[in-house]
Amino acid sequence: MAMNQDHIRNFCIIAHIDHGKSTLADRLLELTGTVEKRNMKAQLLDRMDLEREKGITIKLQPVRMEYKGYELNLIDTPGHVDFSYEVSRSLEACEGALLVVDASQGIQAQTLANVYLAMAADLAIIPVMNKVDLPAADVERVGAEIVSLLGCKFEDILQISAKTGQGVAAVLDKIVEQVPAPLEPIGPSYRDTRALIFDSYYDDYRGVILYVRVFDGEIAKGAHIKMLNTSATGIALEVGALKPDMTPGQGLETGEIGYIVTNLKTTRDAKVGDTITLASSPATEPLPGYKDVQPFVYAGFFPESNEHYQELKDAIEKLSLSDSALQYAPENSPVLGFGVRIGFLGLLHMDIVRERLEREYNLDLVVTNPSTDYQVSLLNGDEIDIKSAADLPDPAKIKEIREPWIKGEIIVPRDYVGPVIQLVSGKRGLQKNLSYVEDRAIVGFEAPLANLLTDFYDQLKSLTSGYGSFNYELSDYRAEDLVRLDFYVAGEMVGALSVMVHRSEAQSLGRTTVEKLKEVIPRQNFQVALQAAIGGKFIAREDLSAYRKDVTTGLYGGDVSRKKKVLAKQKKGKERMKRFGKVDIPAEAFTVMLKRD
Ligand code: GTP
Repeated sequence: MAMNQDHIRNFCIIAHIDHGKSTLADRLLELTGTVEKRNMKAQLLDRMDLEREKGITIKLQPVRMEYKGYELNLIDTPGHVDFSYEVSRSLEACEGALLVVDASQGIQAQTLANVYLAMAADLAIIPVMNKVDLPAADVERVGAEIVSLLGCKFEDILQISAKTGQGVAAVLDKIVEQVPAPLEPIGPSYRDTRALIFDSYYDDYRGVILYVRVFDGEIAKGAHIKMLNTSATGIALEVGALKPDMTPGQGLETGEIGYIVTNLKTTRDAKVGDTITLASSPATEPLPGYKDVQPFVYAGFFPESNEHYQELKDAIEKLSLSDSALQYAPENSPVLGFGVRIGFLGLLHMDIVRERLEREYNLDLVVTNPSTDYQVSLLNGDEIDIKSAADLPDPAKIKEIREPWIKGEIIVPRDYVGPVIQLVSGKRGLQKNLSYVEDRAIVGFEAPLANLLTDFYDQLKSLTSGYGSFNYELSDYRAEDLVRLDFYVAGEMVGALSVMVHRSEAQSLGRTTVEKLKEVIPRQNFQVALQAAIGGKFIAREDLSAYRKDVTTGLYGGDVSRKKKVLAKQKKGKERMKRFGKVDIPAEAFTVMLKRD
């Protein structure tokens, strides 16, 4: 029997990485008896190794709890800027949000951005200060920040310790009290079923599984479903709630959150933000807010050895079944051989995909410097979009090149404002505004995305002793004086090393890159010139002097096994080298620019 709609509460948690979201979720599961305390460890919402290592939760599963006769549905909002579209869809699926702030840290940039999204989505926001048990907790200061952000009263902020459990029961009561029940059906007619997909993944054994929020009507087990934006159709093979294990039921009704196991073969058919309706009597209008998310960071992925190309392709195809944001196209490079160019939502997304390919599929990869895409207007009127510097047409035919700019926000303690503004302008960024919340500054700025791709975040962290946090969104494409910077090894251009860069930065980037190449490319037995050039005109040069490398001299004749060992080692080293003309280039050389300093 489905729950009376008045007794449903759908909420999410907005928190910065490490502020205690997972710990609080665990306590809530425990307190509501959804998971017994002694099972807690094993049950802990399934995390990827990668997430654990990086110390971040990319996403928790949604979970249904029962509390004092109410059905509480908790869904997660990913805590990383790469996934802000998914955050917006998750918020759309609820009526309320817990804002969890670490009492020893305060509000961070990402949290701020998500709070604004939650306000825009009209959610009831319940402020919670976590970790009040810590000696470093500064309840007064952090409380004041929350008050000035939300305009709430200090007394309204719950003070809890998710670790000890102190104050957590009050959180549940507040949810029941303050989060509104789902509205009556919002469709033109409530028989027109509409449900929002806020997450989806591909399971090897079961196919595509959707996490949904039903707004109108009902989705029963066995229903023929249709996605309004992609027009894909399928069958709801199993429908139920996560408690936290999948618990099948008869169906999901208006206001409810749950899962649907479908017979779909790829998440491309049922993307986050799409509206599910019934194929027999489809709703006419989708729920608002659907967006086809476009990647804007690209990198070439090549297997270390060409014989593994097929494996790489299969692996990416497989990953893309559950990651509809992933886009890829074959790429061929004279040095690196066959590979694929993959588009990502951001650098974290790229790291995740790379690590999964390496760990789950055992691939050794050479990944080229990430770049953004560029819009190019040609003199003949054609418009093209390039995703790799190598694709840039002849500059003589180009009218203008536009690059993506972002709007960003950095939150830092007051004392760091100066260095932060310097950092931003060093990236060709423009500071836009500066405001203060208690003793912290919010620096608003705009900057070319390409200049933030390498080590911006690391620099921000080290400049601000770890206190700076950063959030951004894509703003627009701007025409700039951009050129392609090429690199030549022994007189030949290595296309995989080419990058797009602003003319004002080309000289210094060219110089530092050839210096770095000199460090990583081993000497050959002839002199090798390493050069940087714009349009065939050289702007920087380093020379690798000749070196006759015979590692076996110095080993006296008799010791054959030792000699063999050395040769084998040398051979192994060679495998990781890419042969280019007469020169061996190590895989490392293709990522030297990631280590921009
Ligand atoms: P992500 O997984 O990165 O999203 O972080 P999270 O927000 O889920 O944080 P998590 O629950 O993993 O907690 C981060 C760290 O803070 C862990 O080491 C927790 O044990 C600790 N922690 C969480 N809540 C409390 C608390 O109330 N008091 C104290 N002292 N530590 C806490």
